[in-house]
Amino acid sequence: MTTRTITGRLGGLAFGGDYNPEQWDEPVWKEDDALMRRAGVNLVTVGVFSWALLEPEEGRYDFAWLDAHLERLHANGVAVDLATPTASPPPWFSLAHPDALPVTPDGTRLTHGSRDTYCLAAPAYRNAARRIASALAERYGDHPALALWHVHNEYATLCHCEHAAAAFRVWLRGRHGSLDALNEAWGTSFWSQRYTTWEQVLPPRATQWHKNPGQSLDFRRFWSDETVAAYREQRDAIRAHSDRPVTTNLMLPAYQNLDLWALARELDVVTSDHYPGSPGLDAAADAAFHADRVRSLGGGSPWLLMEQGTNTVYDSDRVLGKEPGEILRHTLGHIARGSDGALFFQWRQSRAGAETWHSAMVPHAGPNSRIFREVTQVGEAVARLGELAGSTVDTSVAVLHDADAWWALGVDGLPSADLGYHGELSRAHRALWDAGVTVDLAHPEHELSRYALVVAPSLFLLSDASAENLRRYVAGGGTLLVQHANGCVDDRMHARLGGYPAEPLREALGIRVEEHRPLRTGERIALSDGSYGTVWSESLRSEGAETRAAYTHGMLADSPALTRHRYGTGQGWYVSTRLDDADYGALVRGLLQEAGAEPESPGLPGGVEAVTRHASDGRRWQFLLNHRADTVPLPDPAHDLLTGATVHELPPGGCAVLRRT
Ligand code: GAL
Repeated sequence: MTTRTITGRLGGLAFGGDYNPEQWDEPVWKEDDALMRRAGVNLVTVGVFSWALLEPEEGRYDFAWLDAHLERLHANGVAVDLATPTASPPPWFSLAHPDALPVTPDGTRLTHGSRDTYCLAAPAYRNAARRIASALAERYGDHPALALWHVHNEYATLCHCEHAAAAFRVWLRGRHGSLDALNEAWGTSFWSQRYTTWEQVLPPRATQWHKNPGQSLDFRRFWSDETVAAYREQRDAIRAHSDRPVTTNLMLPAYQNLDLWALARELDVVTSDHYPGSPGLDAAADAAFHADRVRSLGGGSPWLLMEQGTNTVYDSDRVLGKEPGEILRHTLGHIARGSDGALFFQWRQSRAGAETWHSAMVPHAGPNSRIFREVTQVGEAVARLGELAGSTVDTSVAVLHDADAWWALGVDGLPSADLGYHGELSRAHRALWDAGVTVDLAHPEHELSRYALVVAPSLFLLSDASAENLRRYVAGGGTLLVQHANGCVDDRMHARLGGYPAEPLREALGIRVEEHRPLRTGERIALSDGSYGTVWSESLRSEGAETRAAYTHGMLADSPALTRHRYGTGQGWYVSTRLDDADYGALVRGLLQEAGAEPESPGLPGGVEAVTRHASDGRRWQFLLNHRADTVPLPDPAHDLLTGATVHELPPGGCAVLRRT
């Protein structure tokens, strides 16, 4: 990661959104200029889906319209985050290169008419993407309006075509070296799957029944590497002509196809889009989960919220409005956790096309609307926070996240269909959020010693290196909570033998799991401390750990369910079932106390979010977001950047950013 920043160029935090002027005409552009000034917009993303306009036929570029918009924006004091349009190849491209259209596992070749319709492994697509990125960079690389390069949009499309198959084989040779090693890794002795030539090896296409788990996992890894390579090609083409920072926008948590740790290492600044899946307090908690994840991907450096919605969250099949004040709370929630600004999708709500009903900063109703008024207030608030650009967030608690573990829980033939990845991760984060502590996400192979408490949910796959790293963390004084169904397979998807979880982690936990006993849907299992579990249980033996709670019924009666082991100067906790939410919350709060991890503001009631950003020179700003419906007195009043006055209480839904010394 380089130190290229955008806020220096903007002179404060970023505020704005995706700007698609090609959907409108001149009178609207003039109004846009005036409204952007009114709302305090200083950064817009341009060109994300403009390939058909920029290159109307293969090799013929038309930049005149974009020249004019960049000049206009620059004259209006608005900087540009210029996108490469490669997430949406035009129809001429798919007719000229039908082999570059993506193929689903069942062999269906998709066609144009939507977006994100390309195969990243197809040479024609990769060449065309590199060419247009290079042409844009050559023309605009040192344009005075340019603050940031935005490669592509939310890389996500998978493909199972012949190009993907060929590239997969090359990747597999690199990983395994020989066909014998691949056969061994994938366990092809079972079900007569042994490969005798490389040509027989395929992406995991539709099969009669369970696919080979090693093949499924390796394909995920391969596709992630292929995506990172595609990003790097565009980034390097841009860097040949421009010294401005380069990024691509991630999308969490629905972003299933990439090892985000690996992609984030390639970005000059990590950027991400956030659309919560449910309203109210859950949306605020989800924003915090998102923000903590994005910040962690960038190693704690400031990041940028590239997209959020003004008045909609998706609840499966409908868009729900945000309540008055919620746009500001969500925006501040992201900035509190390290975003150096907040952008939206999109500036002006489309009047036609596939996202006509997606919200925007200027809604269909126009500027005389609640939404635009709130947007203007949010713009004013963000402008008042300029002094904290570049500051960071300190945490003493981490939740572990690993793409391999996530993909491992997506293969066929697992012992329970109720084992989840993101659900468990976000539940761990939520329990810590409810307890008022700020959380990092960390990879299980990261250096963890600076954390007082580390929570490890859902690491069904645990590499040898991760198991040793977690053992070392406990030995060195850390408090580690390992949750059910952990460390069951190694990084080839081979079951751990001799008991779970993986050695040497077992040594730090002082237990040995002998048998998995998944529960039926809806079944609950009682523990001796009055708590309950669902989804899963385990028959485990103590090998030095003390039993904190035992199972009470059936075959598992009196055998350990929740254990603690003092090991080295730390302690390893193990919980072998999925505790009910309230019981899990109580366990997490107890561990925070044991580990000495303080909430951000001990004097505040639940439902008031508190996070602090720290500058390297010792200045601090405490963000307080009242998600409650009542007024909350502040135990320690201070100067509030948002109002410019000392605040003593937060009204229902109110926010403050207190300058602390
Ligand atoms: C994002 C995407 C935008 C827009 C938005 C609407 O994921 O990057 O282009 O589609 O969703 O929700």
